[in-house]
Amino acid sequence: MKTIIVTIIILLGINLFANIENGKKLHLANCAICHTTNGGLAFGKDFNMVSYSRKKEDIKAYIKDPYENFKRFGYSANAMPTLPLEDKEIEDIVDYIDSLQPFKEWMKK
Ligand code: HEC
Repeated sequence: MKTIIVTIIILLGINLFANIENGKKLHLANCAICHTTNGGLAFGKDFNMVSYSRKKEDIKAYIKDPYENFKRFGYSANAMPTLPLEDKEIEDIVDYIDSLQPFKEWMKK
């Protein structure tokens, strides 16, 4: 029983790591022209800051439909396009963004 549990935990870990790696690739292909990850300044917010200040489900909602969410996120206009990504690809990008900053602002509340 113990071995099974340990195996499941390892497999989940490997799976998450694969998601993050894939998310990083997708980020470079789809988001990096407008979003940096190292505290840089680009057209959109740096993803390290996004990771710090936003919950996973909100990041996901924004990628899926920026126009539907820009007011709720505090923007006065929407310039980010809705990108043609599959749900699984969006999940992987969200896992990648989430992994950038282990300390979350909302954890302090
Ligand atoms: C053409 C430039 C552009 C591209 C490409 C782009 N974004 Fe954006 N993004 C923006 C801009 C500009 C904003 C600010 C709000 C707006 O215009 O909708 C933004 C806002 C966001 C936000 C909300 C940030 C916050 O915390 O306030 C998230 C999350 C986000 N983008 C994720 C992504 C992801 C993930 C991708 C790639 C799949 C991506 N963006 C691709 C320009 C872009």
